[in-house]
Amino acid sequence: MPLTTELLAPTTEGYARAAQYLGTGALVAFATETVYGLGGDARNSAAVAAIYTAKGRPRFNPLIVHVHSVEMAERYVTIPDAARPLIARYWPGPLTLVLPLRPDAGISDLVTAGLETLAIRMPAHPVARKLLQAFDGPVAAPSANPSGRISPTTAAHVMDGLSGKIAAVLDGGPCDVGVESTILSLDPLALLRPGGLALEEIEACLGRALPTGGDSDKPNAPGQLKSHYAPGAAVRLNARARQSGEIWIGFGPDCAGAEFNLSEKGDTTEAATRLFGLLRQADRLAQEKGANCIAVAPVPVTGLGLAVNDRLDRAAAPRP
Ligand code: TXA
Ligand code: MG
Repeated sequence: MPLTTELLAPTTEGYARAAQYLGTGALVAFATETVYGLGGDARNSAAVAAIYTAKGRPRFNPLIVHVHSVEMAERYVTIPDAARPLIARYWPGPLTLVLPLRPDAGISDLVTAGLETLAIRMPAHPVARKLLQAFDGPVAAPSANPSGRISPTTAAHVMDGLSGKIAAVLDGGPCDVGVESTILSLDPLALLRPGGLALEEIEACLGRALPTGGDSDKPNAPGQLKSHYAPGAAVRLNARARQSGEIWIGFGPDCAGAEFNLSEKGDTTEAATRLFGLLRQADRLAQEKGANCIAVAPVPVTGLGLAVNDRLDRAAAPRP
């Protein structure tokens, strides 16, 4: 039965209503600094099952739990000493840590897909933080988009994909980071997903280089399926010029004639912020013009460029 999805403003009443929905097992999408999350009570298996259903997400792909404080995180995971400097420096922020799940955590098995670890993060966006404080419970939240499609960075994007399937969207405006959080496992230390916190920052904080896994066909984060973030049109990467029948997304100052540009000044942080929104716009324009391909200029892999390239590779991957 389709729901009427409520658009909630970030007001005292909005937070109260969103927290009330979560308390009854209903789903609420909310702004974070990375992308919008599709939130449900992580202790309530019915709510977590509803997240998988609303997204059409495979159940072997576990979810990230969101908390408002380190004290709250410690109810659900054990934090090793090695993680303390990262937490002190980057929480709240776009860093998810995979840590040992406490046996008494009370987190639904559906969240972890049966693993003995939990992916956990403390978001920095004031809307996410106020919602977590109002609810005061663990919120499981994948990106608020149908599985395999482009992640949402505005409330309107969430509505496009999930209207009628969830109770509410808590509007916090456009996300400023624009790509999902960086996922790091501590034991063994590994980058599981590049994201909104640059690898260089993590390495500087830890004082050592990180192994990156390397083989994208054997992902470390179980949900890292190759094809993802797929627009309707095909995607061609490292495009230094437009071919006929293409929409071109440029990067940097040398892309005259491109319909869109990730960052005129060649800034990878700006490119991350704009990536998902521009993929949506390019897809719409491609449809209007009868173009069947979106070409994207090369983006360097430094800073947030690593995450941008990861998402572009998946957008361009062969579709199942
Ligand atoms: O920025 C973000 O991280 C956003 C916002 C909403 O917080 N959330 C997000 O969630 O991107 P999602 O579900 O789209 O991505 C979660 C990723 C998946 O690739 C999943 O495989 C991985 O986290 N993951 C979850 N639990 C894990 C675990 N115990 N071990 C390894 N990877 C895990
Ligand atoms: Mg996602």
